Amino acid sequence: MRLVKLIANLGYGSRKEIQMAIRNGWVTDRQGNRLKADSKTPHEDILFDDEPLDPAPGVVLLMNKPEGYTCSNKDQGRLVYDLLPDRFRMRKPALSTIGRLDKETSGALLFTDDGTFLHRVISPKSEVPKVYEARLDRPLNGDEGALFASGEMMLESEEKPLKPAELEVLDETHARLTLHEGRYHQVRRMFAATGNHVTELSRSRVGSLGLEGLAPGEWKILDDDEKALIFR
Ligand code: URA
Repeated sequence: MRLVKLIANLGYGSRKEIQMAIRNGWVTDRQGNRLKADSKTPHEDILFDDEPLDPAPGVVLLMNKPEGYTCSNKDQGRLVYDLLPDRFRMRKPALSTIGRLDKETSGALLFTDDGTFLHRVISPKSEVPKVYEARLDRPLNGDEGALFASGEMMLESEEKPLKPAELEVLDETHARLTLHEGRYHQVRRMFAATGNHVTELSRSRVGSLGLEGLAPGEWKILDDDEKALIFR
């Protein structure tokens, strides 16, 4: 792909602006040589304004989503995209979240521009477990684990029972729940169906991939080993 299109598709500017940047010598290789529009320099050796270019398409990011941010790129209020560099919103192909977390849910949120990867993560066939920690308004009554694991639990206005989910009681108002599907507001609705109320919810893992070292609001680009952890 021509350099101008490649850089413009990463969101650094319009094609005109990138042509100008090349003419001004802002696009170089790691040795500081100015690149021309027809240069064939490998992606990883290209610098824009002395900084390595953002990753090529096929990228997967993990964010520790803070509470209060919406998983959308056009709603009102604070959006998860506000936590990424502005140019990421202009990438082509576009960067989307892999599934969503509610505005008031925190924790592990994946993004990708790779449709095949996205479908692999959300496909029921992949059976990627998602682990949530919930703080509750009232003490657990002791029956929730069996109900959630039964494979027969029905949520209001749904036609199919929930797949079995595993509950681990951490203390009387704190539980870890592992889901193997992702229905709308699923964790909150499951506890609501038992007469309880989730006051705090966070997702700690997607597959075996956790948030180790990522503070709320921080994100990182996943390497191949980290991506593989999602399916393990
Ligand atoms: N279940 C919920 O209720 N909310 C989320 O954000 C994710 C799972």
